Amino acid sequence: MTAALSRTARHLISIPVVSVMLIGSALAATPAPAGATSCSGCHPPNARVGTPVPQLVGQPASQIVAAMTAFRAGARPATVMDRIAKGFSEAETQAIADWYAAQK
Ligand code: HEC
Repeated sequence: MTAALSRTARHLISIPVVSVMLIGSALAATPAPAGATSCSGCHPPNARVGTPVPQLVGQPASQIVAAMTAFRAGARPATVMDRIAKGFSEAETQAIADWYAAQK
């Protein structure tokens, strides 16, 4: 009983340590461009993070830019992205899209 408990306790301690190391190495690889943190609260910058919001990591930059252009123009239905896309210039959107495309 006590052996099983302490094994569980060791696992509970190791989970946050490993996730901090994974997030740390992802961030160290490529610094996020201006504005990217406005996206990463909803779109995780890491393919290993589960999310009900469409995943941007793994998409080509051109696809992210095309979606943002369509949201901005009101050509693509959205709940929030039409409003968010209007707050970013084409250059900012391109930099954020390039950054997401480089994440794993
Ligand atoms: C409040 C949460 C939230 C934030 C912040 C946010 N998004 Fe989104 N995003 C969504 C949701 C939800 C959708 C699905 C479309 C909708 O309902 O608006 C989406 C869809 C998208 C899509 C289409 C992806 C696909 O595969 O269909 C792109 C591209 C995108 N967002 C880019 C961005 C970028 C770039 C930013 C930062 C400038 C950003 N989003 C910030 C919630 C968010």
